[in-house]
Amino acid sequence: MSVHCKQDAPDERNVLDSTKQGVLGEPLERPEGLLKVTGTATYAAEFDAESCLEGVLVTLPVVRGTITSIDRESVLQMPGVVAVITDERLTGRAAQGMAGEAPFQPAQQVCYWGQPVALVVAESFEEARDAAKHLSVECNADEGDAPLDPDTVEAEQRKPTKNGDLAHAMTQAAHSVDATFTTDGHASAAMEPHAAMAQWDGQSLTVHASLQMLKFNRAELADSLNLKEKQVRLIAPYVGGGFGSKLGISQETVGASLAAMKLGKPVRVVMSRQQVFQTIMRRSETTQRVRLAADSEGRLTGFGHEARVSNLPGEEFAEPVLQSSQFLYGGDNRLLQLEVARIHRMTAGSVRAPGEAVGVQTVEQAMDMLAEKAGIDPVELRLRNIPERHPAKDKPYSSRKLAECLREGASAFGWKDGPRKPRHTREGEWWIGSGVASAARIHAVVEAKARVTLRPDGTALVETDMTDIGTGTYAILGQVAGEMLGLSLDDVEVRLGDTDMPPGSGSGGSFGASSCGSAVFLACEGLRDTLAEKLGIEASDLSLKDGFALWENEKKSIAEVLDGKAIEEIGHFEPGKSTEDYAVASFGAFFAEVAVNHWTGETRVRRMTGAFGFGRVLNARTARSQCLGGMTWCIGNALTESLLFDPTDGHLANCDLAEYHVPVHRDVPDLEVVLLEERDAAASPIQAKGVGELGLCGGAGAIANAIYDACGARVFAYPMTPDRVL
Ligand code: MOS
Repeated sequence: MSVHCKQDAPDERNVLDSTKQGVLGEPLERPEGLLKVTGTATYAAEFDAESCLEGVLVTLPVVRGTITSIDRESVLQMPGVVAVITDERLTGRAAQGMAGEAPFQPAQQVCYWGQPVALVVAESFEEARDAAKHLSVECNADEGDAPLDPDTVEAEQRKPTKNGDLAHAMTQAAHSVDATFTTDGHASAAMEPHAAMAQWDGQSLTVHASLQMLKFNRAELADSLNLKEKQVRLIAPYVGGGFGSKLGISQETVGASLAAMKLGKPVRVVMSRQQVFQTIMRRSETTQRVRLAADSEGRLTGFGHEARVSNLPGEEFAEPVLQSSQFLYGGDNRLLQLEVARIHRMTAGSVRAPGEAVGVQTVEQAMDMLAEKAGIDPVELRLRNIPERHPAKDKPYSSRKLAECLREGASAFGWKDGPRKPRHTREGEWWIGSGVASAARIHAVVEAKARVTLRPDGTALVETDMTDIGTGTYAILGQVAGEMLGLSLDDVEVRLGDTDMPPGSGSGGSFGASSCGSAVFLACEGLRDTLAEKLGIEASDLSLKDGFALWENEKKSIAEVLDGKAIEEIGHFEPGKSTEDYAVASFGAFFAEVAVNHWTGETRVRRMTGAFGFGRVLNARTARSQCLGGMTWCIGNALTESLLFDPTDGHLANCDLAEYHVPVHRDVPDLEVVLLEERDAAASPIQAKGVGELGLCGGAGAIANAIYDACGARVFAYPMTPDRVL
């Protein structure tokens, strides 16, 4: 049986609040946590198969060119080598995402430095790697005029959002800001490198892979290999972080699959850290101009945000920098314009909160500049500019705790009210300052299915191909089922990450929890109906608690009601008009205190508070962890993270975790997270919004503003490394 809901209107019933099992929302531990920390959770590269061959990708140090020959023969004679696979499905951009939707790229064409051009397969990894190093590839390089620098090419303009006359508003403004910022490119930098192990039985393909969105990835892989979807099974019970880099399939998955099909043996391909950095994808660097016009009281009359990003020729994706600028602040005269420069760096794609992760912080810096000009406390300035309705689309907000987050965050942090003046506090050679920024992130939901089975012993099983990319999916889906069925989390088993199970939403865009959680919720509603029917009562008269069914003055264990027979339901959640009729987004506020060294320009974040409202909190522990992770990335975004491309040959110079600096323990102080409970009936049937990426959306701006407050340096380039602060 199946319960389907296309959500066309807010669901105000709040069923989950009336169940009162006390499982949902609780800060419960992850059921799979022990497996992960003891190294017994099995990740893609760790699955074994008999006589599994090892494949190593060969990449080319050429930014643009045409391959003229590949000398397979010399390598095939090396010890252990089984095959050298060159296939346009592997080399072209068809190997990333939907092949059918990828821009046309002839088999021999190279269009970014580090593009994979072949897969060497051998009996051992060492033999494959050795042979890959020796493979001779002739390439007519065509690098001379390949555009490498986004600032030197003409860009394509995307459709702008335009209301009123921003230029006029700027000239009429009592206070105005016109500032241009740059942000460097980012790598997803997931801990687990891309890996896949594929097996082909002549009919069907089974691939253990590290991927975020299995139902889409299965379609992509079938498309790439020209197979039917039902011939492909993907398995990914654990994923060691994705951060966007595993939203789509990549060359390791396609390569392992092609090799397994050609050779009739299992093949494993694990990318090196360098290959992941060079090949998979990047967040585009950005240049952003922010214009704010305000009246004498600091109320916005004009809001402009223009951004230039880059991608390879033909790619559709453009870092959606302006996403939250659409609805975060008011201002009747608006201009939002995104443009894309075509350059030869690896594909730009979704990396950790695409758009807002770099788009909110610049607006937040401009707001700080405006507060200074208007002589208003920066928290107060933000409070004054929260619009009643979506400023461009005139829709209501479904829920929004922005003002509460600003106020409660300020109080938790100990924010000192009033107009600010930099260089007020010095401790030895360190200037101390603090800054604030708002957080905003769009909310999305994606179709999802999950099966829930109530077993004869009264325990439950949840099954979906949804992934857990470190976010806590195992815990929260178990909690939704536990809450609905009156079971403790221990009595709910959650199985994830296998396309043989009902297709979930996948993990991405902060939509996983609300989408898949809703599918589990719907399945459980169906199960409650069935139990009520078995008892001959109305579902509304039934409560389930601690493994018992309760109605009127009666009580029976769930196992007894089931009478030896399992019952199951598939919940099917489909997004409908509900999220279109409202401006639906998650909000928050960041407060940061920094110390800036007077002599070196080094910035240390000393403490940071984030207050967030994102609908129902499904697990206070994992939600907090998501926020902590986001705030940690804010520190990287503000101070250290930068993809460095060589301006002469276009290669990525820092392609490992020693050279690409993510914040480490020493960089991250005590982070405080304040969670503000809310219910958003329009966002999803379980009234939850997205939290995964929210903690990264704007916080770097709070750090930038704190740097200014500390030492008086307004830094317009991210990351704000010492040379840029001095
Ligand atoms: Mo996310 S960047 O949609 O994994």
